[in-house]
Amino acid sequence: MRIIKTVREYLNGRDGINKGSTGFVPTMGALHRGHQSLIESSTSDCDATVVSIYVNPTQFNSANDLGNYPDTLDQDINLLESLGVDFLFLPSYDDIYPDRYRYTIEESEFSRQLCGSHREGHFTGVMTVVMKLLNIVRPTAAYFGEKDFQQFQLIREMVEAFFMDVKIVPCPTVRETDGLALSSRNLNLDAGSRKKAPLIHELMANDVTDGQISEQLGEAGFDVDYVETHSGRRYVAATIGNDNKQVRLIDNVAVGG
Ligand code: PAF
Repeated sequence: MRIIKTVREYLNGRDGINKGSTGFVPTMGALHRGHQSLIESSTSDCDATVVSIYVNPTQFNSANDLGNYPDTLDQDINLLESLGVDFLFLPSYDDIYPDRYRYTIEESEFSRQLCGSHREGHFTGVMTVVMKLLNIVRPTAAYFGEKDFQQFQLIREMVEAFFMDVKIVPCPTVRETDGLALSSRNLNLDAGSRKKAPLIHELMANDVTDGQISEQLGEAGFDVDYVETHSGRRYVAATIGNDNKQVRLIDNVAVGG
């Protein structure tokens, strides 16, 4: 696996990288089996697979959350090598934001709902960095997990809105055996919170109202941002933890047949 650390190096070598079909998996590292399934889809569909690891500060709306984001780079590199990834792109802030984030991609409706209404500017940060990464890598296909379903939808629509020549491929949420959706943030759960965390998935698939789920999560000690159903999909975001470490978990499932 070749590691590419600058945009310049990527652009200079792109003709050699994008020879046939190129699959791209953008990540923020702390890789887990969810990322692994995205990478496996890419390696089975495409001639070459590029993974990026970049913890994008513009999508964090709390310095604490950014500071606590897990960093497991050495392990990540080993995993990527074992999965047969061809290129790892590891850019720096100066490389990605030479404009100091003066230029942004904004969506004015769906990005303001659900997570967007609790994390101001989050999706502007996500869409801006994904647009930049897609423009640098120019893949044939890019892979996104359905765990972040709102993110996946916004990116798919952004690509359509800007006539971008890339296929956005959704991949199913990967879960622990107790139902907890895999997330890099799960590494920050203390033992007590880890035990409670699967309750989110357990409740959300039940035939009860959003309000009832919210109430039950509240009673179990979660601080609930939202439980909402839109277009046949139920979305939940809730925070669990102690004063030292709070972990915000999100999940979604298709509901109502
Ligand atoms: O889902 C993520 O890990 C991030 O939001 C992404 C798509 C890599 C953009 O920073």
